[in-house]
Amino acid sequence: MVHSSYETVDLLDFTHESRYKFLTGSVVPRPIALVTSQNDEGVLNAAPFSQFVILSVTPPLLGIVAQTLPRGYKDTVHNVLRSGQFVINVVSDEMADQVQRCALEYPSTVSEVDEVGFSTLPSVTVLPRRISESPLQFECRLHEHHEFGAPDSRTTLLVGEVVLVHCAQGVREGHRVNHDVLRPLGRIAGRSYCRTQDTLTT
Ligand SMILES: Cc1cc2nc3c(=O)[nH]c(=O)nc-3n(C[C@H](O)[C@H](O)[C@H](O)COP(=O)(O)O)c2cc1C
Repeated sequence: MVHSSYETVDLLDFTHESRYKFLTGSVVPRPIALVTSQNDEGVLNAAPFSQFVILSVTPPLLGIVAQTLPRGYKDTVHNVLRSGQFVINVVSDEMADQVQRCALEYPSTVSEVDEVGFSTLPSVTVLPRRISESPLQFECRLHEHHEFGAPDSRTTLLVGEVVLVHCAQGVREGHRVNHDVLRPLGRIAGRSYCRTQDTLTT
């Protein structure tokens, strides 16, 4: 289909909220990193991030972007900047409801993992545990971080170097990933998600 008519949009005409909705509604679908991190007291935090990207292959670097709240950093950013360690748990479609509930505001003394009923396994190279409902997990060490944005709308890019990967039975076929087993969940907007069973080949 060739489009013959377009309207132009100046993103600066929107409020911050509307700009966020427009950008995240346009860059779709997005994969979801369910990040586990740990605070000084050992509470395991879990939070989903769909601003999630491969930044480099060698070394393997993954990035997540977190908005800063009026009260300051989200728990994930706070924990990762202090400990330098986190796990990116890839999200499959059957985890959707629990992942959505992980995004509710809990005090940093409460583990989202316990609240939503995920189970965990120990990691090998980092302290935060990994989610055993997740079919694939990346153990990461903080490589670097960057701050972006205007003073009242800061974002933080956390760059993790992948130090070890765990693949559930059947997910890995040599260097390839079996997506029928992985069943990745995509975020569209708000509470709207998509599955990846309806694929096409060119
Ligand atoms: C599917 C999904 C994706 C999300 N992606 C992001 C994101 O990329 N960046 C962000 O700052 N918040 C994102 N959020 C909101 C955070 O998960 C939410 O603010 C969470 O409470 C942060 O937890 P924390 O304070 O324990 O780190 C997302 C929420 C959902 C449900």
